[in-house]
Amino acid sequence: MSNILEVRGLKVMYGKSIAIHDINISVPEGGIVTLIGSNGAGKSTTLNACLGTVPATEGKILFAGEDITHASTAERVRRGLVLAPEGRHLFPYLSVQKNLLLGATQRSDKEGIQRDMEFCFELFPILKDRLKQKAGTMSGGQQQMLAIARGIMANPKLLCLDEPSLGLAPAVIDDIGNKIREINQSKGTSILLVEQNVHLAFGAASYCYTLQVGEMVAEGSVEEIRNNDVVKKAYFGG
Ligand SMILES: Nc1ncnc2c1ncn2[C@@H]1O[C@H](COP(=O)(O)OP(=O)(O)OP(=O)(O)O)[C@@H](O)[C@H]1O
Ligand SMILES: [Mg+2]
Repeated sequence: MSNILEVRGLKVMYGKSIAIHDINISVPEGGIVTLIGSNGAGKSTTLNACLGTVPATEGKILFAGEDITHASTAERVRRGLVLAPEGRHLFPYLSVQKNLLLGATQRSDKEGIQRDMEFCFELFPILKDRLKQKAGTMSGGQQQMLAIARGIMANPKLLCLDEPSLGLAPAVIDDIGNKIREINQSKGTSILLVEQNVHLAFGAASYCYTLQVGEMVAEGSVEEIRNNDVVKKAYFGG
């Protein structure tokens, strides 16, 4: 099976401080992979380097077999590498509908855009009911659904999600996990899920990478990682 994303030997520095180093990640085509780690571990930095919003100091990023290490963010999005960023980054004063359409700005296939809009409404019916509502007045959970839907509107081959569980109630988090699997299954979209919530991460993904202060400390199938001593200690109190 070929990989949609390959991160090789990635290092990112902010000024003189090293945020992440020697990071290797593979996401197989059609797979769901999770990257877990606590606050400041370097999860968002890794995703942002994949998207090109922070520069890679060292290393390579391959997308669908091609080297995109030096491509612009817009070019990466056009190729199908899409991020639903942490903290949602919606346009709060624009309607749900406008936010969704802004996800599709790199596209010109009108029928495809319409079809994906319908898919988003099937996935998250609340968005259809609230099309004209300003995004900033939606609840936290609804905004998270909108952020994921906006990612879908970009027609991703790989959808990267940065902590979709942030600030959500447990019942809503379970629902988000189900929706992530549904996107993967019905559209074949590969998913790279960054999470601190291991319940969501392990429920949705089949393979897991674990970051600790900028270093990859464990990787393996979700079953393996569940039983990994380092991970058990960090997340389940030993
Ligand atoms: N723009 C920046 N300038 C300087 N340092 C930064 C910048 N962004 C992140 N960092 C630092 O890099 C490290 C990794 O941060 P990052 O945001 O990637 O962590 P994270 O794993 O996403 O954490 P969280 O779970 O809290 O979102 C932290 O020490 C952070 O302070
Ligand atoms: Mg983060």
